[in-house]
Amino acid sequence: MAGNSLGTFFRITTFGESHGMAVGVLIDGVKPNMKFSTEAIQKELDRRRPGQSSVTTPRNETDRVQVLSGVFEGKTLGTPICLLIYNKDQNSKAYDTIKDLFRPGHAAFTYLSKYGIQDYRGGGRSSGRETAGRVAAGAVAKAILAAKGISVTAYTKEAAGIRAEKIDFSEIEKNPVRAPDPVAAKKMMKKILAVKEQGDSVGGVVEAVIRGVPAGLGEPVFDKLEADLAKALMSIPALKGFEIGSGFAAAKMKGSEHNDEFFKDKNGKVRTRTNFAGGILGGISNGEDIVVRVAVKPPSSIPKAQQTVDTKGRKRTIKVEGRHDPCICPRVVPVVESMTALVIADHLMRQMLVDTKKSVSRVREEIDLTDQMIILLLSHRQELVREVGRWKKEHRLAIADPRREQRIMKSILQIAESAQLDPMFLKELYRTIFAYSRSVQTTV
Ligand SMILES: Cc1cc2nc3c(=O)[nH]c(=O)nc-3n(C[C@H](O)[C@H](O)[C@H](O)COP(=O)(O)O)c2cc1C
Repeated sequence: MAGNSLGTFFRITTFGESHGMAVGVLIDGVKPNMKFSTEAIQKELDRRRPGQSSVTTPRNETDRVQVLSGVFEGKTLGTPICLLIYNKDQNSKAYDTIKDLFRPGHAAFTYLSKYGIQDYRGGGRSSGRETAGRVAAGAVAKAILAAKGISVTAYTKEAAGIRAEKIDFSEIEKNPVRAPDPVAAKKMMKKILAVKEQGDSVGGVVEAVIRGVPAGLGEPVFDKLEADLAKALMSIPALKGFEIGSGFAAAKMKGSEHNDEFFKDKNGKVRTRTNFAGGILGGISNGEDIVVRVAVKPPSSIPKAQQTVDTKGRKRTIKVEGRHDPCICPRVVPVVESMTALVIADHLMRQMLVDTKKSVSRVREEIDLTDQMIILLLSHRQELVREVGRWKKEHRLAIADPRREQRIMKSILQIAESAQLDPMFLKELYRTIFAYSRSVQTTV
């Protein structure tokens, strides 16, 4: 099955089905000798894990991550890192009654249309459980970004039609819906639970803010930073819309309102006064916060009776009685952070390559110039040595002059110390120069 991988330099491949033995991820492109924290991965997995509150599914997976490869004594080896999470709390029996029915809003019909076979238990590969691998990889990406001063924070901006009016990052993990506004969070909870009572589900909006991204990340055409973010985020199951900055509101604005005016801040940095662009211009980051938003649909698995057909096309009624989230926004939050972190980490590596190429060629040019100067100086020295040689010949003096060589060597070694050059290297070099000078003087 194609399409299981994401990224160019920082590349991940996820594997596994919801009710199979395990889900996981293979990460390629992590530099060697990086500190690797299994605890940090576990922390992120715990945020995505089901069974955290009454608005998320009670499926009680412990989601313990196992590191299969790529790590030795707490450090990355530079080889592929394989992270595995065993599936333990599957209740596959719950799916027996609906195994031949197409769940409205779920992927059974399309998977069967494409492959002619599907693991109906828990949605198989289309399950939200697949995102555990993404979150594990996202934790590794987040660590890479943190070392560069880049942070990714997502939260539920809206759920069940209730919007967070306040954005206070410190509130996000304090409430079950992961809203940055405690007052709105309470209203969201109440409405979600009321809808759950009716055997139904609700959707919402998850927003992510990426801080500390330097200006210059991204590519100009097909791999625009917002295009890669949109692809990565829209690959999360149940997402129905993507926005960056002003998003769809831009359609109703005038150019004079939407343009973010530039100014130079007190540190001399070029900034924009507003951020309708959402931190990206022409596919490349402009140094402002990157702000993206996704629309999350109401999960399709609901106990309420719905009309459908079975695999033979016969009319049927379906009630999904398994363990499902009435609102998946709080569980989508860590997945959005992870996918965003993966894209930024990949583009950071792509940019390093561009920067490295520039700086290496620039340094090499400087080395070439220095070498030319050394040759010119040696040529000048040779001319002076010849002149002295002619004088020695005229005065019938010996070519070898050990006392002068000793004096030169002494003063060279003094200069070497202040120039932080290896005295042994200079001794060797000047022994060669003295020998060469003597041979030049014998030929004049
Ligand atoms: C973290 C997470 C948890 C999810 N949990 C459920 C769930 O409990 N019930 C459900 O019907 N869908 C759930 N989904 C969504 C389905 O996986 C998704 O709707 C389905 O695969 C169809 O794909 P689509 O909605 O992208 O078209 C979840 C998605 C994510 C990301």
